[in-house]
Amino acid sequence: HRQIKDFPADFLWGAASAAYQVEGAWDADGKGPSVWDTFTKQPGRTFKGSNGDVAVDHYHRLEEDLDLMAQMGLKAYRFSVSWPRVLPAGRGAVNEAGLAFYDRLIDGLLARGIAPVLTLYHWDLPQALQDEYGGWEDRRIIADFAAYCGVLYQRFGHKVQHWVSLNEQNYNLTNAYLLGTHPPAVQDRRRFYQANHHAFLANAQAIALFRQTVPKGLIGPSFAYSPCYPSGSSPEEMLAFENAEEFTNWWWLDAYCLGRYPQAALRFLQANGEAPIIEPGDAELLAAGKPDFIGVNYYYTTTVTDNGLDGQTLQRINTTGQKGTTPSSGVPGLYRTTPNPNLATSNWDWAIDPTGLRTGLRRLTSRYALPLFITENGLGEFDQLTADEQVHDDYRIDYLRQHLLACQAALQDGVELLGYCAWSFTDILSWLNGYQKRYGFVYVDRDEVAVRSLRRIPKDSFYWYQGVIARGGRDL
Ligand code: BG6
Repeated sequence: HRQIKDFPADFLWGAASAAYQVEGAWDADGKGPSVWDTFTKQPGRTFKGSNGDVAVDHYHRLEEDLDLMAQMGLKAYRFSVSWPRVLPAGRGAVNEAGLAFYDRLIDGLLARGIAPVLTLYHWDLPQALQDEYGGWEDRRIIADFAAYCGVLYQRFGHKVQHWVSLNEQNYNLTNAYLLGTHPPAVQDRRRFYQANHHAFLANAQAIALFRQTVPKGLIGPSFAYSPCYPSGSSPEEMLAFENAEEFTNWWWLDAYCLGRYPQAALRFLQANGEAPIIEPGDAELLAAGKPDFIGVNYYYTTTVTDNGLDGQTLQRINTTGQKGTTPSSGVPGLYRTTPNPNLATSNWDWAIDPTGLRTGLRRLTSRYALPLFITENGLGEFDQLTADEQVHDDYRIDYLRQHLLACQAALQDGVELLGYCAWSFTDILSWLNGYQKRYGFVYVDRDEVAVRSLRRIPKDSFYWYQGVIARGGRDL
């Protein structure tokens, strides 16, 4: 019989969201447009043309949402700041009304004993910077991002301790520059690696500035972490697995945490003319911007095999909510993804794998020896509102419970875990999947087309998580 380690007393039991997915008020009080405001209005980009114009109207229902968070007993709430709400043109004039909204949010959390976890960037780039110089494709983004972060450090540094720099640079830019499914909807491997290089530098610059301005705070990027499995144990499959780890995980995490790119992947890209242009001083900047923790957004593991693809990287995207509709992806000649027959999947083909979380947390600890913070984990599914206004989401409870048990096992293994933010608090706009793919503890009455009442209805999982937090994670 093995003794089970308790969650730490100061563990941050949380839930998460992102500005574009919840706020709405897309042009209220001086906010400028983001690339998502523009992109979602283009025909055919999202499920049934859904967008975040209203989202779940968190901007206007702040007090109600804060009260629900307090009722649940949350210890932490992770949210993101909309860059164009604060700087409508991306840089220059500050929009005081935008900052005031985040003051109300942060003060409202603190008054309820909930720690704010502030994400600086969750994909809603000011459209003005995309138009002016192509956003992440130009080195000018480094200084502009630092200036924006500086505004937030000055304003909120004394009352926010936990900060996330970039959210899922890997997932967002893969969609934006390889798959063409996020703005600016490009499919070009060279531009992909160059945009990523600038994002690494911007991340490091923002962290370096943070050290001067918020010396007692903690900061790190949130990474969409999908630990890889080999499809089998042949040497070829193991090599494909190593390739996939370098290309899908270590490329980003080594750059953030070690200040350099993994060698085999870098050589491959150089040989193909796809490697980023690295300028003098870049290595020094990366070294000056190491994170305090790694934010881990975990949804699924990825299984890979060695059969190379003939053509280009294929799209790995399924917006249908129908099982078995996700194509394979990979790097030609190096690896490609394949379904894992050992794992059940969600309706969007995401492999459900709590043990993969434990494995992943251990791998990160071994490679980087940094504290970890689960900044997202959750299950997107169709939910049914019953006639008597309830949502019996036992499948979500089961998912979250299994993943928390995996966290507990990882603690036992020696992983340092600061907290766990379930994705998401209320239902939200799922970027490409509309409002049908629901993640929240709190149901929101709306769909893709009809905004409806936006009424908040706690699901069964709300009361379950309330109990988990009250017991400090004991007796999961
Ligand atoms: C992450 C993002 O990719 O996963 C979230 O940080 C997102 O913003 C979540 O909502 C779930 O993805 P999706 O595509 O199901 O909404």
